[in-house]
Amino acid sequence: MTFSYMPGFGNDFETETLPGSLPQGRNSPQRPAYGLYAEQLSGSPFTAPRGTNERSWLYRIRPSVKHTGRFKAAGYPLWKTAPNVGDHELALGQYRWNPVPMPSEPTDFIAGMCSITTAGDVLGQTGMAAHVYVANRSMVDDHFFNADGELLIVPQVGALRFVTEMGVIELRPGEIAVLPRGLVFKVELVDKEVRGYVCENYGAKLTMPDRGPIGANCLANPRDFKTPCAWFEDKETPCRLVVKWCGNFHVTEIGHSPLDVVAWHGNYAPYKYDLATFSPVGALLFDHPDPSIFTVLTAPSGEEGTANIDFVIFPPRWLVAEDTFRPPWYHRNIMSEFMGLIHGQYDAKEEGFVPGGISLHNLMLAHGPDAPGFEKASRAQLKPVKLDNTMAFMFETRFPQMLTRYAAELETRQDNYIDCWADLKKRFDGTPEGDWS
Ligand SMILES: [Fe+2]
Repeated sequence: MTFSYMPGFGNDFETETLPGSLPQGRNSPQRPAYGLYAEQLSGSPFTAPRGTNERSWLYRIRPSVKHTGRFKAAGYPLWKTAPNVGDHELALGQYRWNPVPMPSEPTDFIAGMCSITTAGDVLGQTGMAAHVYVANRSMVDDHFFNADGELLIVPQVGALRFVTEMGVIELRPGEIAVLPRGLVFKVELVDKEVRGYVCENYGAKLTMPDRGPIGANCLANPRDFKTPCAWFEDKETPCRLVVKWCGNFHVTEIGHSPLDVVAWHGNYAPYKYDLATFSPVGALLFDHPDPSIFTVLTAPSGEEGTANIDFVIFPPRWLVAEDTFRPPWYHRNIMSEFMGLIHGQYDAKEEGFVPGGISLHNLMLAHGPDAPGFEKASRAQLKPVKLDNTMAFMFETRFPQMLTRYAAELETRQDNYIDCWADLKKRFDGTPEGDWS
């Protein structure tokens, strides 16, 4: 089965699976066609300004009140929510991990969500959490929605299928998807095992960054974002719906599939994006811009230019700058940086930071190229070089990222990460040339 998509970012989309199932000229006719129920899904307050006002109208077999019954508590102990402070005894530091191991037990996407950091406060709808998912089993009759935030999904191993109430998104490594807060979905595995990263955004929705003097093109372009066309199932068998709500999990049993939206229109919808369509902009003569030049999506906070979350990628690109230290420079930052590597090699750390791995450089903790990377870049002949076979990314937030106990105790944490800078030599000897012996 192939699934189709509509191009554009934040468009006012419309889509129907059956002819005439989408009302025209009105949202809530007395009797919608096919006996469907009309229901609004609000992603912003009714009175939000036009530019940030988001809602969709869903025409479904049953209204969502029929897709929940009485709730029972459910346990997903590895999925943590901010504030989650004082959870471990690991000392302050820069941290790096090898990939989270694949599960040995049958594990679906929700059960396989392992939180690495949390930041901010879900009750104040600020901050985020960074997770890794690992799964080897499709969700069949189980469904999920997250009231705590939207989910930015970054696959690293294996393709998956997000079967949502607004349509189906097929996703493979190299693509990302964003599932809005409250959207009901289940996750099917296309490949046997999957792993990837998730940023759970408690705050204002991810949007495209302003381009400023760059102009109207480059970086991520709106038409490369793809929103699924409507898709539904009419399935009258026992199903479950798991809800994440203010950090706790609840489950409810129903007698049918909640994925029953026959038609919808609006601008509150899931989407996917192929990172290969990002057009990077960079240095043409010397130095290089701040990594914000590679921002794909940003979730604003109330303070201008101070993001709740920036999603930044480090894609293949040409390095041409003259008389320039070309890798990322040494850095201390008020923002906190969670990095992952989808495939290939990252230019500031050629070894140790492996695909599926994680690094965490938190509020004001120093980081930068390792000793071999510094040596190489300081002595390199500065010809144009294509940085190829690489796709790293960063979840960057204005809030400090608090490590979870799971991450602190994860056996793949590299206890010797700090040693990657041990061999950086003192070059200062009082001469203008410095000591490069
Ligand atoms: Fe940094």
